[in-house]
Amino acid sequence: MDYLLCLCLCILLIHHFFTITISADQNGFLSLSCGGTASFVDNLNISWVPDNPFVTKGSTTTVNFTEGSSLSQVPLRFFLNSQQGRKCYRVPVKNMSSPVLVRPQFYYKNYDGLGKPPTFSVSLGTATVTTVNLTNSDPWIEEFVWPVTKDVLSMCLHSIPDNGYPVISSLEIRPLPQGAYGSGMGDFPNKSLRKSYRVNCGYTNGSMRYPFDSYDRIWDDDRNFAPSHLSTGFNIQLPFNLSGIKETPPVGVLQSARVLARRNYLTYNFPLNKLGDYHIALYFAGVLRVSPTFDVLINGNVVSSNFTVKSIQASALFLTMKEIRSLNVTFKNISFYPQVNAIEVYELVDIPLESSSTTVSALQVIKQYSGLELEWEDDPCYPTPWKHIRCEGSLVTSLELSDSNLRSVSPTFSDLLDLKTLDLHNTSLTGQIQNLASLQELEKLNLSYNQLTSFGSDFATLTSLKTLDLQNNSLKGTVPESLGNLKNLKLLNLENNELGGTLPQSLNKKSLEVRMSGNMCLSFSTSTCNDRSDNNTIEPPQVTIFTRKKTSGHHRTAIIIGTIVGVLCAIIFLALLTLLYIRKKKGTEDRYTKGGTSDLRNWNSAKILTYKEIKAATNNFKEVIGRGSFGSVYIGKFPEGKLVAVKVRFDKTQLGVDSFINEVYVLSQIRHQNLVTLEGFCSESKQQILVYEFLAGGSLADNLYGPNSKKVSLSWVRRLKIAVDAAKGLDYLHNGSNPRIIHRDVKCSNILLDSEMNAKVSDFGLSKQISQADVTHVTTVVKGTAGYLDPEYYSTQQLTEKSDVYSFGVVLLELICGREPLCRAGAPDSYNLVLWAKPYLQAGIFEIVDDCLRGNYDVESMRKTAAVASRCVERDASQRPTMAEVLAELKEAYNIQLSFLASIGYAH
Ligand SMILES: *[C@@H]1O[C@H](CO)[C@@H](O)[C@H](O)[C@H]1NC(C)=O
Ligand SMILES: *[C@@H]1O[C@H](CO)[C@@H](O)[C@H](O)[C@H]1NC(C)=O
Ligand SMILES: *[C@@H]1O[C@H](CO)[C@@H](O)[C@H](O)[C@H]1NC(C)=O
Ligand SMILES: *[C@@H]1O[C@H](CO)[C@@H](O)[C@H](O)[C@H]1NC(C)=O
Ligand SMILES: *[C@@H]1O[C@H](CO)[C@@H](O)[C@H](O)[C@H]1NC(C)=O
Ligand SMILES: *[C@@H]1O[C@H](CO)[C@@H](O)[C@H](O)[C@H]1NC(C)=O
Ligand SMILES: *[C@@H]1O[C@H](CO)[C@@H](O)[C@H](O)[C@H]1NC(C)=O
Ligand SMILES: *[C@@H]1O[C@H](CO)[C@@H](O)[C@H](O)[C@H]1NC(C)=O
Repeated sequence: MDYLLCLCLCILLIHHFFTITISADQNGFLSLSCGGTASFVDNLNISWVPDNPFVTKGSTTTVNFTEGSSLSQVPLRFFLNSQQGRKCYRVPVKNMSSPVLVRPQFYYKNYDGLGKPPTFSVSLGTATVTTVNLTNSDPWIEEFVWPVTKDVLSMCLHSIPDNGYPVISSLEIRPLPQGAYGSGMGDFPNKSLRKSYRVNCGYTNGSMRYPFDSYDRIWDDDRNFAPSHLSTGFNIQLPFNLSGIKETPPVGVLQSARVLARRNYLTYNFPLNKLGDYHIALYFAGVLRVSPTFDVLINGNVVSSNFTVKSIQASALFLTMKEIRSLNVTFKNISFYPQVNAIEVYELVDIPLESSSTTVSALQVIKQYSGLELEWEDDPCYPTPWKHIRCEGSLVTSLELSDSNLRSVSPTFSDLLDLKTLDLHNTSLTGQIQNLASLQELEKLNLSYNQLTSFGSDFATLTSLKTLDLQNNSLKGTVPESLGNLKNLKLLNLENNELGGTLPQSLNKKSLEVRMSGNMCLSFSTSTCNDRSDNNTIEPPQVTIFTRKKTSGHHRTAIIIGTIVGVLCAIIFLALLTLLYIRKKKGTEDRYTKGGTSDLRNWNSAKILTYKEIKAATNNFKEVIGRGSFGSVYIGKFPEGKLVAVKVRFDKTQLGVDSFINEVYVLSQIRHQNLVTLEGFCSESKQQILVYEFLAGGSLADNLYGPNSKKVSLSWVRRLKIAVDAAKGLDYLHNGSNPRIIHRDVKCSNILLDSEMNAKVSDFGLSKQISQADVTHVTTVVKGTAGYLDPEYYSTQQLTEKSDVYSFGVVLLELICGREPLCRAGAPDSYNLVLWAKPYLQAGIFEIVDDCLRGNYDVESMRKTAAVASRCVERDASQRPTMAEVLAELKEAYNIQLSFLASIGYAH
């Protein structure tokens, strides 16, 4: 195993080296000549490359200008307003340590002959970092210390109306030592630093950079800081002990110092251009034979008293000052001469939180479905919101996709949990209103001008809804009671549908405006239509604004008849209900009391728990270990010490108490070594809680992608073992259990690992049971997860076991390629794993196999797995293998890999 690990690491390192040499030079520097056409090496021996692989927009030119007596020629790229969307550089920083130094340079130099220098703003990632005003300085040079958290750094230029076109000439990226400039920043997380000053104190002979500074920071000389007559330069060669300061200036900078002589104070005044928070780094090196001691003051306040610089040693002070408008740094004499060797001053720039990745991938999937050409890249909210989207902070609260071709409200919408406004008018929606139940913040829902036919059950949970516009659809039947429970509803527009019958009386209130014209026969009283025929073409008045009506005498008879009918119906209904209840109860009791049978054992092993017990076990729902559209999962511990995963369903509207009990009963009977065991449940005061065994190894998704990903240790043989385990579990659900069960949400995060890396399938609570043996499919509301959804199920809404096979195929592809099903980094055509990987795998091209696996897999074993994975994700369900066939193939692939390992001398 160690050998394999090493092999894998070696390959990683080779790969690492390879990627670096593609873009960055031997120092890890990446230098883009913006608008440049050829690569070149400059007089500092830094390699420059043209910027076009990293930017897709803009026009290029070269500008000539004289500087002093010499003629300079600088390429530049400018961005006209006619270009839509964000104007961005996307630079790979995958193999760079964090943070990096980002240095863009902006030249105008009247390249367009208009004599109007532009002003524009610049963003890095989600942060708007600066406004460049080329009237004030041309060129304009910025430096940022940027924490690397993603594989790609995007830097965008944003024009300001009437202020010309953004323009840029170069962009330099320099890796800094891991963790540099983090000292003293504990109270200021998620900030970038924007350089205000970097002074090589006591040195007056020009600026210093690479190769003197191996990180290529530019150290300005000390000429510009008054009062200069106090300055004394030292140029003493000393072997400084530089250890312990990550961001240490180069020795060349430390060799000079500004030293106070014959006065009490040595002061630097730094003009600041705005009120803000600033980070200050002061560097000291013992260039004198004595150890001077002094106080350090910032803006008159002592920040370090009795600071001593020891001979031949380097030290540093890092300080962060809040809300300052001006800055002076003073060194106050105590003994010998106060000195300072280098000073850096940075403005702290906020980095707004990114939107949740669930939201972003849901939006990407919706974009694909919509067929709209949208430039939705990077973060939806920052630096400026995507088109069609509005945000509050990093939450996407509004989505308006009208006039597109969505066809149905796909399950991905249920991931947009923060939406307050959803406008899908005129998007060709058909069928049921669905997949919206989880959008509990939703206030405004516009589904008008579609071909929706039924209300579905989602409205019961949309309690924040204020405006609901369903006009001009094909809604049939009666208006469901659940609409009446929407307490905050102010406007309900049902115009021009095919609705009939009585509106729920709870909608009959002053605070609510109901528009219902253009329907067959819709009103608050049962009688309105009785004197008319059921003629579809009757035109009711165009707009009905409801005000409380008195029941007129004319209607009374009808109401009495209506009431009698109603009462009769109610009696019959109640009788049926009672009958059903008695039967159910009897059934339940049967299950509780049947003694000695295996049934009892299983049912009892899934204990009935009280809400109180669960509250105690989870320490009042303290620690969330997972979240999904079904609700949250908490970790819990029973008094006897057993750890459990507690799943609190919030889509309780979708399951009545009876069906919940029924489902729990079915689940509790399923026992298989590759299925997560149900330990207990609670069905109390509207709570539906399932308690499962806790698996210490986390989910396969955590292992492959999580922050503590153990991807490297997931060798091919381990991945195959996991695949075989999961296939066994699914095969059992499909073929071994009674009733047969379709999982409906097979994905990596639903495959859990125990401490020995045995895999178990979880979350078949969403499952659909097929009770009759001969039924081949069930028609359902489409459920599932973006990226794993069977396209045929999606289009036909007919669920079969083959939908699970499809999703499992996606899992296999993830194991092979080591990437997520939907992945925004990288080229657009690699976005969808299935579309991207299938052609390669079918052709037996294994270039796309996870880098971590290179060289440690048997080709035949990989070929077999790739072939079965490709067949699983066939679009046509009938072409897909059954789970049993998949399992057989995977077992073979596993055995081949085992023999391969044995042949190279490795016991499994
Ligand atoms: C410039 O860099 C190259 C490697 O890219 C190196 O071989 C060469 O020695 C360097 N030249 C100088 C003058 O540093
Ligand atoms: C700049 O000078 C180069 C030759 O040195 C010339 O080819 C180019 O056209 C000039 N560009 C402009 C905008 O004048
Ligand atoms: C380099 O990139 C590889 C993937 O290409 C990644 O696994 C590795 O961790 C990276 N190395 C560093 C030092 O970031
Ligand atoms: C740019 O700077 C100039 C000169 O200071 C000023 O007049 C102009 O208003 C600035 N432009 C913007 C957009 O702030
Ligand atoms: C900083 O960012 C990380 C991830 O980007 C986030 O988890 C954390 O909450 C943020 N901290 C603050 C104080 O915003
Ligand atoms: C430095 O700043 C403090 C507070 O802002 C001020 O009182 C003091 O006069 C300043 N010293 C100099 C030399 O500018
Ligand atoms: C200042 O430091 C020196 C030596 O580091 C020490 O002898 C002296 O007592 C200190 N003075 C004060 C006021 O702390
Ligand atoms: C429905 O109304 C139309 C005209 O409004 C009439 O021609 C037709 O006969 C009516 N149908 C019935 C079943 O009353």
